[in-house]
Amino acid sequence: MTRIVVVGSINMDLVTVAQRFPAPGETLLGERFLSVHGGKGGNQAVAAARLGAEVHMIGAIGDDNFGQPLCDALAEEGVHVEHIARIEHCSSGTASITVSGGENQIIVVPGANAQLTPSHVLKAKELIAQADAVLVQMEIPLETVEATLRVAHQQHVPVILNPAPAQRLPPEWLQLARYITPNQHELATLLGADPSEDFRTLMRRAPCPVVLTRGAEGAWLRERGEPQHQPSFGVKVVDSTGAGDTFNGAFAVFLHEGLDVAVRKACAAAALSVTQLGARAGMPYRADVEALLARQST
Ligand code: RIB
Ligand code: NA
Repeated sequence: MTRIVVVGSINMDLVTVAQRFPAPGETLLGERFLSVHGGKGGNQAVAAARLGAEVHMIGAIGDDNFGQPLCDALAEEGVHVEHIARIEHCSSGTASITVSGGENQIIVVPGANAQLTPSHVLKAKELIAQADAVLVQMEIPLETVEATLRVAHQQHVPVILNPAPAQRLPPEWLQLARYITPNQHELATLLGADPSEDFRTLMRRAPCPVVLTRGAEGAWLRERGEPQHQPSFGVKVVDSTGAGDTFNGAFAVFLHEGLDVAVRKACAAAALSVTQLGARAGMPYRADVEALLARQST
């Protein structure tokens, strides 16, 4: 069984569906509200677990009403939660999300995620050493991202850095990543480059292999040489929240089958994920991904 360690955020997503996004100062009547479990780290852990991996989560929750349910939801998905820290006198991470016409706007308040420190990662060194792959994103302190990259690299475990939300990082850190998985905006920000630059040029400029996600236009991959394209799977988009997380979870699970296969299966998984409201509701199980691939190839 593929063993994956995820180091990242756990949030309660407060999702409002509306006809359109409000302008500053405007009050709108929305259509629906739901609170669902999210956070890039938690989402990637669930995506990988549903696809059949043994997943261990390193993260943090607060001691508010959201904390325990967030942890329980991960455990119910089969994610190992022993390395989730409960931070005293602290709120859990929250994401206030507005969804309209398949697009979203998100404000994340890190709360306990900001208290996930390098020491939490170092404590799990043995666990990381035994992993087939490590996944890390950037909704936690950057020093914790760095610690994850360094520990995994030292232990010769491939680490996948999903550089979201967009921030600039030192190029030396990127060299520790086996793959980075940005979208175009995140890649430009990560490299401190001009976002209007052609994405292929940006990919060539990264100091490590890149898997670039482009939503409905699929993904591009570059280990060395020319970037290669993987088309997306046509689906009706209800809510794209969590699509990137589903992509990353699947990518980590299928990486041992080869880069091209992993990217193709990750695109299929991400496509399935956007057909339902909420970050995790549409995340597929292994059989769902296989079925979509089978339909596509006939
Ligand atoms: O990537 C989607 C996630 O980003 C949401 O679940 C929300 O919590 C934000 O962190
Ligand atoms: Na979704």
